Amino acid sequence: MKTLVIVTHPTMKDSLVNKRWVEELAKYPEKYTIHELHKVYSDEKIDVAKEQKLVESYDKIIFQFPFYWYSSPPLLKKWIDEVFLHGWAYGSKSGHKVAGKKIGLAITAGGDEEGYSESGSEQHTMTEYTRPFKRTFDFIKADYKGLFVQYGIEYNTSEEFIEEGVPKYLEFIDNI
Ligand SMILES: Cc1cc2nc3c(=O)[nH]c(=O)nc-3n(C[C@H](O)[C@H](O)[C@H](O)COP(=O)(O)O)c2cc1C
Repeated sequence: MKTLVIVTHPTMKDSLVNKRWVEELAKYPEKYTIHELHKVYSDEKIDVAKEQKLVESYDKIIFQFPFYWYSSPPLLKKWIDEVFLHGWAYGSKSGHKVAGKKIGLAITAGGDEEGYSESGSEQHTMTEYTRPFKRTFDFIKADYKGLFVQYGIEYNTSEEFIEEGVPKYLEFIDNI
């Protein structure tokens, strides 16, 4: 079963990590379907019925994005608001179309890992910052599998550092 990777990056052409991740995923079209929201919806007008159909046809979904102000870029929030509708994603009678599907988050962050530890400068972890996502996925009864984070891209932009994360990201996807 293939994995749907929903990528949200407002400035992909300037990206280092997300761009590299997409490039790697694209090498295995038999395993991953890449769905870049800013590419498909450059006008940000989401075709909700089409997105729902797409989600319905996958059992594993990854949301990949750069961390923006302790959350996702806005188009992903818009996507969630518009796609996870009552009667489709949740509801007392019908709905629950995402129920049981495996979901993971793949995030790139400018800040380093130490900063996102309880003793670090942020004093909060990525698990805490992403709690609204977890709660949303729990609410719609999806099988939330946690997150993969590449920290520190603001401190280290070397090719070596970026390449190190690539197999780890694919391993995360394949093992959830
Ligand atoms: C508008 C904006 C907000 C950002 N907010 C955060 C943040 O809250 N925490 C953080 O660690 N990095 C933050 N960053 C840095 C990005 O997460 C980082 O540049 C990105 O993940 C790098 O991935 P890329 O090479 O694929 O663009 C922010 C960047 C932008 C442009």
